[in-house]
Amino acid sequence: MREQLEGLREKALQELEGVGDLQGAEEWRVAYLGRRGALTKILRSVGKLPPEERPQAGERANRVKRELTQAWEAKVEALKAKAIPPEERIDVTLPGRKPLLGTIHPVTRTLWEIYDIFAPMGFQVVEGPEVEWDRYNFELLNIPKDHPARDMFATLYVAPPYGRSQEMMLRTHTSPVQIRTMERFCPEPIRVLIPGRCYRYESVDATHEWMFIQVEGLAVGREVTMADLKGVLTAFARQMFGAERKVRFRCDYFPFVEPGAEMAIDCIVCQGEGCRVCGYTGWLEILGAGMVHPEVLRNGGYDPQSYTGFAFGMGVERIAMLKHSIDDIRLFYGNDLRFLKQFS
Ligand code: FA5
Repeated sequence: MREQLEGLREKALQELEGVGDLQGAEEWRVAYLGRRGALTKILRSVGKLPPEERPQAGERANRVKRELTQAWEAKVEALKAKAIPPEERIDVTLPGRKPLLGTIHPVTRTLWEIYDIFAPMGFQVVEGPEVEWDRYNFELLNIPKDHPARDMFATLYVAPPYGRSQEMMLRTHTSPVQIRTMERFCPEPIRVLIPGRCYRYESVDATHEWMFIQVEGLAVGREVTMADLKGVLTAFARQMFGAERKVRFRCDYFPFVEPGAEMAIDCIVCQGEGCRVCGYTGWLEILGAGMVHPEVLRNGGYDPQSYTGFAFGMGVERIAMLKHSIDDIRLFYGNDLRFLKQFS
C-alpha cells in the first residue's frame, strides 16, 4: 500500500501542475479527492488490512490526503488570481479609502443656532405648507385682493387641484403659518418659531434668491408688549452676533403688524463706522417685526381686546451671510463643495 500511495501522490501532484484552469482543477479534485476518487478508494481499503498495519497505513494515507488537498487549494487560489485582470485585483494591504461623509449645510446650521437661542425663551418649532392658499398667504394677513402690499411679494402661482377655485401659490413668506398656528392653539398662549422655504419671482443676485428660507417668530398672550418684542430680539441679536452688538428699531410697514418695525444691528465688519458691507451706514438690517395686527389676531380666533402678540420674520441665508462674511447668497445653493466643505 505504501508504494501505491507514493505512486498516486506523485502522479496527482504532477497532473495538478499541468492543470491550467478552474474547471481542470475541479476535475482533478473529483478524480483524486472526490467520493469515488483514487485516494478515497485507498483510504477505504485501509480497513481491510490486518489490524496491526492499519494505524500506520491510515496515518500515511491521511497525510497524503492533507497534502493533496492543500496543493489543490493553492492551485485554485492561483488560478482565481490569474483570472482577474491586474487592474481589478484588490491589494488588501493598501490602507482603506475614507468614506465621504456629508456635512450639515450652513443654512441648516444657522437655523439650528437660531433654535438654540430661542428655545430657552420658550419658543417651540412648528411648520406649515409650502404650497399655500391665497387666503392664508395674503387675505387673513390683512392683505386683501388689490391691496398694494401684494406688490411687495412677487408671487409664483400654481394651478389649484381639480375642483378648487381658490388661488394657490408657493408661499412668499412664512407668515401664513401665523394664522395656521393661531387656529390650532386658540385660546392658548403661543410662542413659536416657524422655519421654512419661501419662493418669490425675483431676479437672482448676490442678495436675492427665488427660493430662500425664512424663520418666523410669533408670541401671543394676554400681556405681550412691544417691550417683549424688543427684549427678545435684542437678546437674539447679541447671542447670534456678539454681546457688544447695538440694535436699532425703526418704523416699517407690513400689513399684518401694527406698529411695524425693521431691526438692524451695528455693522459687524466696521463696528458701526461705515464700510462697503453696510453701505457706509454703519447698520445692517436683519429682520422685519411688529405687534400682531388686531385684524390678524381676530382672523386667528383671538379676541384683540384681551390678547396681544408680536411677530418677526428673518431670512436665514442673510443671517448666515452676516455671520460668516459670505458675500453672495447664490453660493448656498450652487452645490460647490469648495464652499460647502468650509462648514464641515
Ligand atoms: C416678510 O417676508 C415678512 N413676512 C416678515 C415679517 C414677519 C414682518 C412678521 C413682520 C412680522 P420681507 O419681505 O422683508 O418680510 O422678508 C423678510 C426677510 O426675508 C428679509 O429681511 C430677507 O432676509 C429675507 N428675504 C426676502 N426676500 C428674499 C430673497 N429674494 N432672497 C433671500 N432672502 C430674502
